[in-house]
Amino acid sequence: MGVFASTDDPGSTGHEQVVFCQDKQTGLKAIIGIYSTALGPALGGTRFYPYASEEAALADVLDLSRGMAYKNALAGLDLGGGKAVIWGDPEQIKSEALLRAYGRFVESLAGRYYTACDVGTYVADMDVIARETRYVTGRSVEHGGAGDSSILTAWGVFQGMRAAAEHVWGAPTLAGKRVGVAGLGKVGKYLTKHLLDDGAEVVATDVNPKALEWVRTTHPQVELVDDATALVAADIDVYAPCALGGALNDDTVPALRAKVVTGAANNQLAHPGIEKLLADRGILYTPDYVVNAGGVIQVADEIEGFNFERAKLRATKIYDTTREILQLADDEGVPPAVAADRLAERRMADVGRLRTILLR
Ligand SMILES: NC(=O)c1ccc[n+]([C@@H]2O[C@H](COP(=O)([O-])OP(=O)(O)OC[C@H]3O[C@@H](n4cnc5c(N)ncnc54)[C@H](O)[C@@H]3O)[C@@H](O)[C@H]2O)c1
Repeated sequence: MGVFASTDDPGSTGHEQVVFCQDKQTGLKAIIGIYSTALGPALGGTRFYPYASEEAALADVLDLSRGMAYKNALAGLDLGGGKAVIWGDPEQIKSEALLRAYGRFVESLAGRYYTACDVGTYVADMDVIARETRYVTGRSVEHGGAGDSSILTAWGVFQGMRAAAEHVWGAPTLAGKRVGVAGLGKVGKYLTKHLLDDGAEVVATDVNPKALEWVRTTHPQVELVDDATALVAADIDVYAPCALGGALNDDTVPALRAKVVTGAANNQLAHPGIEKLLADRGILYTPDYVVNAGGVIQVADEIEGFNFERAKLRATKIYDTTREILQLADDEGVPPAVAADRLAERRMADVGRLRTILLR
């Protein structure tokens, strides 16, 4: 895989900087990927995962850091896109010394990259990393952190869904609609509450008996179905994937009865081309990275000194961004996923270019 950008090399990834970090003593092997700093320091979490190979770790960090640039651009943040991976089994090798060694590498980038939590890293780990670097967010409440990011993630998903409802049915509300929520985890639970408060009917599923028990006790009016396959085939207006990636694939899209898909899960499209399949079936898909940006908006706010109301206002704007994307998609005759990418690229180019105006 090529790392260096070149217009005549379509296989290139276009990343600004990719840093390999190693500390033999602690077993640290990390790769920090900075896709773009056009809008500001690159922000993205650190994934700690036992990749099968260095190539797999590199491919993941390149992919994830690029995704963060687009997500942060559309979230309206003055932040670029980056991500890091630590290659290894966190159960086996995570230690104070390893995390601090990693923190020193982050510090050595002098603010070009801000890290945060991702799969395999937690708020407590960020507190350890912060003993070596200023460039870390997503910290514990005791250290000025914002706490549970799923609250604003769910709020943002709800805003994106309102914009989609307006586009399809003419009013920004889910009142009277049947919404299928796949995954009643941290985000799915809050989303269910917003939907019920808005007057929607909720149909849901989860593989975890505790999550099902929670909904039976807290919201007995929610209808439960056996699994995600049953939910996809159910008579619903909106499908909200809030569990794992790949929810929209060659099997689910043809079976889907909903007119709108808006959910929190990352990487909902199983492969490129699924966005076209959805469009051909007349199903409106709001890109996952646009509507699930509430979490990154929250950790980004923490960099300024966390203020929940300010972060919530910014997450509420996901409604406006989704509207703009859906309008652009109609105007340019492309699926919303393509329109979102174009809008993000425009912001990176238009705002990023301003740095060429000399300030002294
Ligand atoms: N938490 C955040 O702030 C945030 C931000 C952006 C994106 N996301 C994404 O949103 C999704 C949900 O995040 P979360 O924090 O709620 O995670 P979570 O782990 O708390 O919840 C996921 C839920 O999905 C259920 N689930 C797993 N497999 C399932 C299946 N096959 N069918 C039905 N249910 C299934 C799990 O039992 C769990 O209850 C993830 O894809 C995550 O990457 C989360």
